[in-house]
Amino acid sequence: MSPARIFRAPGRVNLIGEHTDYNLGFVLPIALNLATEVETNPGPDGLLLITSEHRQETRTFELATLVAARPQQHWSDYPVGVAKELLSLGFDLAPMHLTIRSTVPEGAGLSSSAALEVATALALLQGRELAPLDVARLCQRAESQYVGLPCGIMDQFVSVFGRLNAALLIDCQTLHAEPVELPSGAVIVAVNSMVKHQLGDSAYRTRVAECAQAAQALGVKTLREATLDAIGKTTMADKPRHRAWHIVTENDRVLRFVAAARAGDLHEMGELFIESHASMKADYEISCPEIDFLVETASGISGCYGARMTGGGFGGCTINLVDTASVPEFQVRVVAAYRQEFGITPDFYLCKPGDGACETAIPK
Ligand code: GLA
Repeated sequence: MSPARIFRAPGRVNLIGEHTDYNLGFVLPIALNLATEVETNPGPDGLLLITSEHRQETRTFELATLVAARPQQHWSDYPVGVAKELLSLGFDLAPMHLTIRSTVPEGAGLSSSAALEVATALALLQGRELAPLDVARLCQRAESQYVGLPCGIMDQFVSVFGRLNAALLIDCQTLHAEPVELPSGAVIVAVNSMVKHQLGDSAYRTRVAECAQAAQALGVKTLREATLDAIGKTTMADKPRHRAWHIVTENDRVLRFVAAARAGDLHEMGELFIESHASMKADYEISCPEIDFLVETASGISGCYGARMTGGGFGGCTINLVDTASVPEFQVRVVAAYRQEFGITPDFYLCKPGDGACETAIPK
């Protein structure tokens, strides 16, 4: 193994298409310039050392017994889950010391976990060949099977395939992706609510189960094949009905958003943000008071075309489509209102689409 190397993978914001990925629908994320880096150095014989710089903590694992490792509800579950997946694909792992550092905030709905998984996969591969789609898939398996969150493919996919200056329209059924350029004149501003309600992971599992229930009632494999008409005619409980309604309408909104972006129609894009949020709030029930407040406040600020929550739900970030010239005023007004209502100062990120994961040069 060569001396030090650094592998980098970005976090993401999803512009629209929430919870549609595990229903094999459409999503439209962008890779961010916030990223996780994993530095690799040769490690002591037979061992994998993993250090989190942020937590100032190191965990040590024996390579010989790593395949039998069990999740510990600890940050190291993410890299260990990835290492196990690589071992089960037949890759040998050299004794190594991984050092993790990241600018992706945790719990903000910007996918710090996928960034860590993808950077770890590249770090452990050390340049050995594995198709990028397989990297994304193995990281998704690490999260769903080892960490235990039955997520879709979106976060890992965009962390691998992100494109500079473009969002990615991903069809989660075919795994075909196409770049979508965003019109000039406005920027995507992410506002971090700084809250993450505990409910998140268990509610995510419940939503996955409710969607499966709805698909079964409708007699389709996944909600990708469902129609509003069929949902209206089929007998099922209220919850799966509402979840299915969100998924079908959200898939349609993704495609309308892409058309609006290509036509440079910022007003329509903003409207679709607002519709998407209303659907997540009423039908999918994954919002929370802090997020609803940020969305309502933003929607009333001139220069903001629309706002919605992004990510899994129950906190994290809103994204806002804001006229470039109005961004400073937008920030001042959001900070004042949010502080007054909740006593919390939000963070802001100007989201510019960046490239996907890669090896980076060691700083001199
Ligand atoms: C999380 C999951 C993704 C996706 C989003 C919601 O980020 O990891 O797969 O389901 O929630 O759109």
